[in-house]
Amino acid sequence: MTQAGEAQGAGVVGLLRRGLRSGVVRVQRRAADLAPAERARGRRDWSAAVAALPALAELDGQIDALAARFADEHARYCREVGHPVHAASLELVGLLVGLVQKTRPGRVIDLGSGFSSYVLRSLAAEAPTPMEVHSVDDSPDWLEKTRGYLRDKGLSDAGLFTWAEFDAPARVGAYDLVLHDMGFMDTRFATLDPVVDLARAGGVVVLDDMHKPDYRDKALARLGERGLRPLSLRRLTHDKLTRFAYLLPR
Ligand SMILES: C[S@@+](CC[C@H](N)C(=O)[O-])C[C@H]1O[C@@H](n2cnc3c(N)ncnc32)[C@H](O)[C@@H]1O
Repeated sequence: MTQAGEAQGAGVVGLLRRGLRSGVVRVQRRAADLAPAERARGRRDWSAAVAALPALAELDGQIDALAARFADEHARYCREVGHPVHAASLELVGLLVGLVQKTRPGRVIDLGSGFSSYVLRSLAAEAPTPMEVHSVDDSPDWLEKTRGYLRDKGLSDAGLFTWAEFDAPARVGAYDLVLHDMGFMDTRFATLDPVVDLARAGGVVVLDDMHKPDYRDKALARLGERGLRPLSLRRLTHDKLTRFAYLLPR
């Protein structure tokens, strides 16, 4: 074989090895997603979550109904604006609707803008008590995309911030309800501490995408070091893409 042929062969073998390795990693991650331990934690944490926030019991079995009014727009958003993998699931939407209806938060912050910003601002527009919504994104481009979407929907685009300009230390304890769904997972973890500190004592933080084992393990370990114990809300938020959220009562 010529030198060029050998180099080409080695390149193909390298590609195959890398492909196999990433396939194995994907299978391992998928297996961890389906791990019985996480299903068991979901069952175990449910009673602790209800003890911490009794209103959750009233949401059990009601998530689809709570999200129903947003279902058509969710499908359109996923098709024409965002993407189903990135947009809040309808299960997460149902949880947000239920939390807003049951706890009537005065100040809400939505980190990771998009469909969740639309849902929360729609709820704020019709809330019987004042409800202010701030939306933050690490991506200026996505924040602007969200701004355009909110305007198209006739909703307020006040209170939109990039993470870079958002003064998190000045807003410690300022919010009743915090949704952490911002950025890719490295950013999500890097911003975890300041984000959970945005919730007031007695408020709640919803941590989305806790189905991802690497992020979940790191987030639980970090919050555990701080004496904080997030509770799996898999029972309410498990979706067809295997995603689910945790709740951190503050
Ligand atoms: C999980 S998404 C946040 C989704 C948002 N809460 C929603 O309900 O649409 C995390 C980040 O991805 C970015 N993002 C949102 N939609 C995206 C899309 N369709 N494609 C690529 N990135 C997106 C934003 O910067 C956002 O902070």
